[in-house]
Amino acid sequence: MKKGIILAGGTGSRLRPLTAGVSKQLLPVYDKPMIYYPLSVLMLAGIRDILVISTPEELPRFETVLGDGAQLGLRLSYEPQSAPRGIAEAILIGAEFIGSDSFALVLGDNILFGDGISRRLQSLGEGRNATIFAYQVRDPERYGIVEFNREGHPTAIVEKPAKPLSNHAVIGLYFYPNDAIDLARHLTPSARGELEITDLNAAYLAQNRLSVERLGRGYAWFDAGTADSLLDAANLVGAIEKRQNLKIGCIEEIAWRMNWISTGKFRRLGESLRPSEYGRYILDVCDGIR
Ligand code: TTP
Repeated sequence: MKKGIILAGGTGSRLRPLTAGVSKQLLPVYDKPMIYYPLSVLMLAGIRDILVISTPEELPRFETVLGDGAQLGLRLSYEPQSAPRGIAEAILIGAEFIGSDSFALVLGDNILFGDGISRRLQSLGEGRNATIFAYQVRDPERYGIVEFNREGHPTAIVEKPAKPLSNHAVIGLYFYPNDAIDLARHLTPSARGELEITDLNAAYLAQNRLSVERLGRGYAWFDAGTADSLLDAANLVGAIEKRQNLKIGCIEEIAWRMNWISTGKFRRLGESLRPSEYGRYILDVCDGIR
């Protein structure tokens, strides 16, 4: 997979008044901006060519935070979404960027981590199938969910069902073959006026071309769209980071471990962030202390 898209627009209405002056995806999750987490997932999947989509008002702020990506050995580009017309619209906005490649799409408010995730994502094939990820939750009615038959094959994808027949939520990370662009062009807006990613995934399922990867209890997944999930995500990240003295979603460290930047460059990034614990961490990693 060579290309990745981070969709980081939306209204963030469930987080008001936190989102009155700033995008949800720039809010802190413990010690770093929220967008570091989805960016780190794409990086761990080995993806270096990444399009960030946000609202026209917020897009310049993301450029301030992440720049052109060269400092991380990435190529970052930016496109606006003029109104929140649905997650699947990201594919239409990104069509030119995607070109003739397959691609991954991640939502800017999704926080996912777990041991071995890099290997797992990199081992996904680039065949004719779309791949989505299912995560068991207590409140499936809040999510798009996937139903399975007795053999464990997906049978239905349903958006926010009133009476869910499965506890498996579809998380905001999707791997698509190139024809997702064509399929997205044929979607029609739902009753809430959005191009639904659930409809796109259902189209792949109808063609028998949907792979569902289940993420078990070794993974943490949050969509940090409410005050409680934002706090839960921050608390879990904080607890693990303090206990292990390792960071989750440190994009500079990932770039260095992937061999995309030299140790000298990595150290300079740490120095530029130095008064913070985050900067000190990078310098300690350089010195082999952690
Ligand atoms: P949501 O959480 O569904 O929507 P939202 O972020 O606008 O929040 P709220 O429901 O509280 O108003 O969006 C999930 C992610 O997808 C989030 O990172 C924002 C992003 N998104 C867009 O960028 N554009 C869109 O059109 C939609 C629907 C979502």
